Amino acid sequence: MTMQEKLDLLQRKRAEAELGGGPERIAAQHDKGKLTARQRLDALLDPGTFVELGRFVTHRSTDFGLADERYLGDGVVTGWGKIDGRLVYVFAQDFTVFGGSLSEAHAEKICKVMDLALKNGAPIIGLNDSGGARIQEGVVSLGGYAEIFLRNTLASGVVPQISAILGPCAGGAVYSPAITDFVFMVRKVSYMFVTGPSVVKTVTHEDVDFEGLGGADVHGGTSGVAHFVHDEEKESLAGIRALIGFLPSNNLDDPPVHPCADPSDRRDEELLEVVPDSPTKPYDMHDVIRRVVDDGAFLEVHRDFAGNLLVGFARLGGRPVGVVANQPAVLAGVLDISASLKGARFIRFCDAFNIPLVTFEDVPGFLPGVAQEHGGIIKHGAKLLFAYCEATVPKLTVITRKAYGGAYDVMNSKHVRGDYNVAWPTAEIAVMGPKGAVEILYKDDATEERETEYREKFAHPYLAAARGYLDDIIDPRDTRPRLIEALATLATKRDRNPPKKHGNIPL
Ligand code: HXC
Repeated sequence: MTMQEKLDLLQRKRAEAELGGGPERIAAQHDKGKLTARQRLDALLDPGTFVELGRFVTHRSTDFGLADERYLGDGVVTGWGKIDGRLVYVFAQDFTVFGGSLSEAHAEKICKVMDLALKNGAPIIGLNDSGGARIQEGVVSLGGYAEIFLRNTLASGVVPQISAILGPCAGGAVYSPAITDFVFMVRKVSYMFVTGPSVVKTVTHEDVDFEGLGGADVHGGTSGVAHFVHDEEKESLAGIRALIGFLPSNNLDDPPVHPCADPSDRRDEELLEVVPDSPTKPYDMHDVIRRVVDDGAFLEVHRDFAGNLLVGFARLGGRPVGVVANQPAVLAGVLDISASLKGARFIRFCDAFNIPLVTFEDVPGFLPGVAQEHGGIIKHGAKLLFAYCEATVPKLTVITRKAYGGAYDVMNSKHVRGDYNVAWPTAEIAVMGPKGAVEILYKDDATEERETEYREKFAHPYLAAARGYLDDIIDPRDTRPRLIEALATLATKRDRNPPKKHGNIPL
């Protein structure tokens, strides 16, 4: 063969790999309203930055006629690329090759990029679209999944791990995305379940379709498995790019600071109007967050799950922060099981990746009730408390209104190593609200006068401030400048927990 012929062969093989399972299956993928693996990578990465690894890998099976059916790449496109100029490792399962099912070779390709991500300290992003274990390969495929699960676990807290579900993700395969830090799903495209509708029908006699069992809205709103839900694949991939913009590349790196056009000393007059005069009236904590953070930009995580607690990323003076905020507009902002789980996982992510935490607090307490108690609010609420206690990143708290009972302690109080704890003059900090307190103290004699007396005595921030549990009571209009100043002083914060193998968070 001449050099030219060799180059032509290479060119042909490279082109063959790009066709995956062939034009008909690509057309079928498009007919389902789905992009191909390569189109997805094009949308995810900066143009021209994708470098493919393992393009010529094929499976090694010979059973069930597979000796004659091999596709270059074997159902997964892997490599590295850039997002806003920063290195990320990626894999995108190709449904046009054996339904994106996971063979030994397919798993090895994924493990290779995961190993590189861990070694080189860059995020790993997985685009999942797969019929699960390659049925023809049996236990070898299961072994491949386990290799991936192990790497997900070892990489947890070392490099950010992001999963997009862009097709089926069923059976044990769900556990790789479940271990990763953030799961993205797309309505009518993604579904995730441990057992599908037909098995559910046989076992529990429940009639449910794919979307109703494990579609994007189910996991974004009910189970909390998905952190971000979009209508279109391209929006979802753009969402991953936006998220990466807040994250450091690894746990030894700092999150990326951006130049900030929004003045650091900007006061906001409207903040005086946000908290209503009546302590029982709701308001939207988004209004507080948006008025304080840079350019009003808040990337909300878990937007449709446990709306009584808001979590997400924003910037203050150009520095990324993780925001955790009670939401008085939903269930009066109480902490329940779902909110505790949502908050705990977010806080632990931020702590693992050096992202300071800013807490906006207006919480009447934990949600009472048999369902909550029997559901384990004790152990789940403890997760939120544990997460705040163990976090050593800079931790700032602004109490806008209520800080009652155990929830006062939990929500990044001074006692759990809050670095800068302030309250607005509208804050009420006590063991419980005035009504509940006088009912317990005076039983049948719980009059309105006694309630007023209790309110005047306790429902304000000055007792907490007198003890030093608050560093200051501030004019709400100054919230942004005060937080930015404090955050700057904390840029060099050093704090450590006692050496140990790992803590035992109450799971
Ligand atoms: C091999 C598979 C496959 C699989 C799909 N295909 N799943 N090949 N192993 N697991 C192939 C099909 O034969 C078909 O090949 C092509 O992929 C597209 O599949 P279709 O069925 O035509 O597509 P669709 O109608 O969209 O249905 C998609 C699907 C269905 C719902 C995912 O294919 C399906 O139910 N697959 C089996 C799912 C499953 O039970 N997997 C094992 C789960 S257990 P052709 O040649 O026709 O294009 C598991 C354990 C993990 O994964 C363990 C981890 C601990």
